[in-house]
Amino acid sequence: MKKWRCIICNYVHEGETPPEKCPVCGAGPDKFELIEEPKVTTPKKWRCTVCNYIHVGATPPEKCPVCGVGPDKFVLLEESPGDLPAKERDAIQALLFNVSYGLYIISSIKDEKLNGMASNTFIQVTDRPLRGSVCLGKGALTAQYIKESGVFGVSVLGKNNHDLVKHFGYQSGRDVDKFKDMNYVTGDKTGCPGLLETLCFIECEVEQVIDLGTHYLFIGKIVDGDGFSDGDGFSKEEPMTYAYYHATR
Ligand SMILES: Cc1cc2nc3c(=O)[nH]c(=O)nc-3n(C[C@H](O)[C@H](O)[C@H](O)COP(=O)(O)O)c2cc1C
Repeated sequence: MKKWRCIICNYVHEGETPPEKCPVCGAGPDKFELIEEPKVTTPKKWRCTVCNYIHVGATPPEKCPVCGVGPDKFVLLEESPGDLPAKERDAIQALLFNVSYGLYIISSIKDEKLNGMASNTFIQVTDRPLRGSVCLGKGALTAQYIKESGVFGVSVLGKNNHDLVKHFGYQSGRDVDKFKDMNYVTGDKTGCPGLLETLCFIECEVEQVIDLGTHYLFIGKIVDGDGFSDGDGFSKEEPMTYAYYHATR
């Protein structure tokens, strides 16, 4: 339904056309103007491909407030087919903050080049044989290395490893050699690097890759491992959780 305002007395009339005569001041239809309703636009959401920060606005931000990268590292989040309506999805996403995760540096190797990235998605999935899975964005260089080499390493972070999260999680191996100047061992079975400042290192050979559209879910057989903190594989230091990292970064 359209709305018309009398320019003489501000009376508002609702209808397809203005009234023949204003019921308040008696002005004719030529004294009425159409009231334009403000257009409702749904704000766009942009995801930082480096640290996963979400920005809401018409355009991506000049600089990511979390990791500092520029607008070129942001991608538009579009509703994907099969997803819940945006409001419902946001409400359920908030519930998922109650799920706890650890933090890891996932590494791989390609033609002797090493790379790694921060991830909160590694978990053990079976015990006989021992298997682990990790879910990585397709845009990450590490994901591409794993897809090609079929191997990945997992360095399990402790509560003091904040610097490693920043180093491996806020920049890409496309721009910097992330293992230069790092202390690491080279895995006996896979050749993947494991960081010595972490709690332990696990080596995996990929058995299955599941294509999830935006991400690959890698399922790997655990083929070797090393504990770093006290020599017996069981660290005295506590593992870092995703929630602890966000509360203390
Ligand atoms: C705390 C934290 C957790 C992250 N978890 C994931 C994850 O589980 N999956 C993912 O694809 N990216 C994750 N990221 C983002 C990648 O670490 C980041 O995009 C990285 O720069 C990719 O590096 P690469 O291109 O050298 O592989 C995380 C980043 C941070 C800071």
